[in-house]
Amino acid sequence: MLPASFTSAVGECFGDTGRRWLATLPARVRDLLRDWDLTPAGPLPLSLNYVIRVRRADGTPAVLKLGVPEAGHIADEATTLEFFGGRGAVRLLASDDERGALLLEEAFPGTPAAQLSPTSDPTATAALIRVVRRLHRPAPDGVPLPELSDRLATFAQHLKRFPGDDPLPRSLVERGARVFAELCATATGRVVLHGDLHHGNILTAAREPWLAIDPHGVIGDPGYEIGALLYNPNPESDDDTVLDLLPSRIEQLADGLAIPAERIIGWGFAQAVLSELWTATGSGKPGRRPLRVAHRLLPLLP
Ligand SMILES: Nc1ncnc2c1ncn2[C@@H]1O[C@H](COP(=O)(O)OP(=O)(O)O)[C@@H](O)[C@H]1O
Ligand SMILES: [Mg+2]
Repeated sequence: MLPASFTSAVGECFGDTGRRWLATLPARVRDLLRDWDLTPAGPLPLSLNYVIRVRRADGTPAVLKLGVPEAGHIADEATTLEFFGGRGAVRLLASDDERGALLLEEAFPGTPAAQLSPTSDPTATAALIRVVRRLHRPAPDGVPLPELSDRLATFAQHLKRFPGDDPLPRSLVERGARVFAELCATATGRVVLHGDLHHGNILTAAREPWLAIDPHGVIGDPGYEIGALLYNPNPESDDDTVLDLLPSRIEQLADGLAIPAERIIGWGFAQAVLSELWTATGSGKPGRRPLRVAHRLLPLLP
């Protein structure tokens, strides 16, 4: 039985494609367990993808992850994890793009860095810095992943669709687009980015102290990677303690990653606005914590 919160979230996000996928999911999981010689070993928290703990034929633990194949996320995740090759991220053990499936090394004990924030926030930020330093390497030619600059189209589409200040202030979106474009044009490198490196996607592990899971995979300037951290964890929450942590987070990230503070601020701002644009495009209502982060960072922009 699939939890109702999961099936309704998939339906809302992917529409009929998602509902068709849900209908075939139990059979697909059964086939994959058989084809990859796995036994189920317990549930994991679900959002928009189906994940379960499994054991392989030799008894080693692993995680089976399935997503809507048509969305392309699972194929990009496989490409990215393969490129990372286990450096700072869980290893990819097997993948099947057509069936939208991944077999992943299990990060164990797997406690997310989210549990350290806000009480031990610098330790959580240090975990992110450590992981980023392991992950980032120049993108070789021909890696089949999207370019970061492609995400500029989201700003243009939003401005075309919403001519006024609803659901987001137009001047803020325009500024977000300008900052995003400027940072792409002055990129200091062209690396394979995780692309969604928030506190819930960094887990405690044994092979390395922290391993990333769930990469989106995108190619571009290394500074983009810190954007998700600034408005996380729990961006839906009204507890805004993390807003007061912004200055210390920015300083720690600039030092730890050797990225100028103004680029950290710029990416933090541009990505917070982008996150709200994604919310406006989907079924959600913009105006969550990313927006409040954008307003805090606005006066700090160069
Ligand atoms: N390789 C893994 N090792 C340990 N736990 C995992 C692993 N992959 C996923 N999980 C658990 O399952 C949850 C959902 O997986 P995730 O890949 O983040 O899915 P989603 O793309 O839906 O966010 C994670 O938050 C984590 O708790
Ligand atoms: Mg996740």
